[in-house]
Amino acid sequence: MAINTTGGQILHILADGKFHSGDDIGAVLGISRAAVSKSVKSLKEKSIEIFSLHGKGYQLVGGADFLDRDSILVNINDKCRDQINELFLHLTIESTNNYLMSKAEEGAGKGLICFSEHQTAGKGRRGRHWVSPFAKNIYLSILWQFDGGAAELEGLSLAIGVAVARAVKKLGVNGVALKWPNDVLLDNKKLAGVLLEMTGDVSGECKVVIGVGLNLFLSDADGQSIDQPYTALSQYLSRSVGRSEVAAILLSEILLILMDFEEKGFSSIRDEWQSYDALLQQWVTLSSVGKQVSGISCGIDRDGGLLVDIDGDIKVFKGGEVSIRKAEVK
Ligand code: BTN
Repeated sequence: MAINTTGGQILHILADGKFHSGDDIGAVLGISRAAVSKSVKSLKEKSIEIFSLHGKGYQLVGGADFLDRDSILVNINDKCRDQINELFLHLTIESTNNYLMSKAEEGAGKGLICFSEHQTAGKGRRGRHWVSPFAKNIYLSILWQFDGGAAELEGLSLAIGVAVARAVKKLGVNGVALKWPNDVLLDNKKLAGVLLEMTGDVSGECKVVIGVGLNLFLSDADGQSIDQPYTALSQYLSRSVGRSEVAAILLSEILLILMDFEEKGFSSIRDEWQSYDALLQQWVTLSSVGKQVSGISCGIDRDGGLLVDIDGDIKVFKGGEVSIRKAEVK
C-alpha cells in the first residue's frame, strides 16, 4: 500500500492546493497524461483527497505542508541531534510503530526515528484505532533501547507525556494537561496520545518503540471517527507554524527527556508530571476487565503509578491494568 515515487512526485506538485492539469504534471515528470491519471487514481484509493475537475486537472484539497527532512533536522535541538541514527519520512505506512518494531526485530538499535504523513492502520492504546488523515497531524515513532529490562521502563510512558506537554508549551500554547498515564489534553479534550510497545528481554536488554500522535489540523470530517472529545493544536497557535517545525520540537523534547530518563529515571520528572495532572483531587472511576472502582485521584508515586484514595485507603494502579475517567460527583 506504499505510495510509489511517481505518486510522491505528484503529491509534491499538488501541495500548493492549486489545480494542475494532467498534461502539465506529465510534462514535469516526463510521463503520459494516462500515467498521471493512473497514479492519481491509486492515490485516491489510499484516501488522499484529490479533486479532479474536467478541463482544470487535479487539486489536493486544502494543499499540504509536507514534512521536510532538512527543516526537521535544522530545527532539532543541538543537544540531541547526535541521538538520531536514522530518520525515516514516509508518505504512507501501516503504522510508524509497526515499522520500527520490525526494524527492532531485525536487529536495529536505538535512535531510529519514523514520521509518516499518513497511517493506514494507526494504533491507539487499548486496541483502539488512531485516526491518521494525510499530511495533517504528526505521527511519530522512536526506537530506544534500555539495558535494565522492563522494570526500568515504569514511568517512561508518563515521561513521554511530559515531553509532549513541554513541546506544546514551547510552541506558545498554555493550559496543557496530562490525564494519567499519558493522554495530553487541552481544554479537557485529547490533543495527543502515546503508545509504547516493547520487544526483547523483559528482565534484560529490551527495545521500546515510543509512538506519539499529535493532532495538529483535524477537520470535522476526520474527527467524526474519533470516539472521545478531541482537539487540534492549530486552534490554539497564535502564529503560523510549519508542520516540520512542530515535528522537530516534538522530537527534540522527546529525545531530551529520554536522555534525562536514562540518566536519572522517572523521579526527576515526577514533579513536573504532577504539575500537569488533569485529575488531581478529582473523583475518578478506574476500570479493568469487568471491574470498576471509584475514589479520589491523589497524584502519582515515584514510579508513575496512580494513587487513588478509595474509602480512606491509598491504592496504587499501574498503567497497563486500567483505564480512568472522571467520575460523577458522589
Ligand atoms: C493513544 O491511544 O492515546 C495512543 C495513540 C498513539 C498514536 C501514535 S501515531 C504514531 C504511532 N503509530 C501508531 O500506530 N500509533 C502511534
